[in-house]
Amino acid sequence: MGSVTARLTDSWKLGPLEVPNRVMLAPLAGIGNWFVRLQAKRYGAGMAVSEMVSSHAIHHRNVRTCEEMLRIHPQERRTGPVSIQLFGADPEVMRSAAAYAAGSGADALDLNMGCPVPKVCKTGAGAALLDQPDLAVAVARAACEGSGLPVTVKLRSGRRPGETSGLALARRLVAEAGVAAIALHPRSAAVHHKGRPDYELAARLAGELDAPVILSGGLREREEILAAFEQTGASAVMLARGALGNPWLFSSLLGDRAVEPEREQVVAELRWTIAAAVEHLGADRATRWMRKAYPWYATRLGLERHDEKAMQESLQRAGTLREVDDLLQSCIRGDRSAAQALAV
Ligand SMILES: Cc1cc2nc3c(=O)[nH]c(=O)nc-3n(C[C@H](O)[C@H](O)[C@H](O)COP(=O)(O)O)c2cc1C
Repeated sequence: MGSVTARLTDSWKLGPLEVPNRVMLAPLAGIGNWFVRLQAKRYGAGMAVSEMVSSHAIHHRNVRTCEEMLRIHPQERRTGPVSIQLFGADPEVMRSAAAYAAGSGADALDLNMGCPVPKVCKTGAGAALLDQPDLAVAVARAACEGSGLPVTVKLRSGRRPGETSGLALARRLVAEAGVAAIALHPRSAAVHHKGRPDYELAARLAGELDAPVILSGGLREREEILAAFEQTGASAVMLARGALGNPWLFSSLLGDRAVEPEREQVVAELRWTIAAAVEHLGADRATRWMRKAYPWYATRLGLERHDEKAMQESLQRAGTLREVDDLLQSCIRGDRSAAQALAV
């Protein structure tokens, strides 16, 4: 079911859903909330997937999970579907969580069967499900039945290098559970996010699976993304680390040429993100949340290496968002002293 002649700007079908193009935002734990997804959508992403959300926490109606992590902004849907990623290894809990997520407004669900983190695998979820294919199929079937939505599953190629259990599981998930698409990250779980993804393996799956394959892994630069899309025949690509602080990657893939943003645009985008974080989390939590995001943007400010480091450290050290704003102002003015004063 590979899309050999497709272009990234072409629409495609995910079950009954029409996805307007083939560039997506990948699920990113602790990051992919509504405003990060909305940012990707503002720059053209055809679909965005949430950070992973615990099916148990939803089932037990954890307030922060249900109100914060499942929050969908109405504008997110203006340019394509919103998918919520769930993780868990208990089919009945997954059925209940999937129904709740559907009721919260998700257009599609994605199931995490690729996370290598011990905290998740210890519970039998994430990549541990690669070793439990019958259970994995039962979990996916429960998600499909519970939600009534198109369900995708995000998989690794296997748990250990050289293994291809992910491909065998992909076939079963589609044939036996009714999964609408497979997102494949063709690295083994053991290597986490390191090393070269095996695009040949992704091409093999795309060529033989009776459902769309979405490619994840190693997709950072425009040219390499275009090459990987062509090489694998995947139906869509999913940007992860390459999209952090770089929503321009979406527009450059969907437009004719790559345009690097000016410093003012980077600062404006950072300010947009800060304002959204404050709206979502309140000023105190937003101040802390933003600390992980500053390095993503600092590298795009076009500063000398030393000034970039000073700016990044000053932003992360700032105790209030007012201080952050002053630093950004100084950066636009090209005033080095403010960041350096705070960096010492
Ligand atoms: C900080 C971080 C958080 C991630 N969180 C998730 C997650 O919640 N669910 C998931 O399926 N994959 C998660 N991933 C994996 C990414 O979706 C993606 O598959 C991986 O980063 C490979 O793509 P890349 O090499 O282009 O970054 C995460 C990756 C990173 C770096």
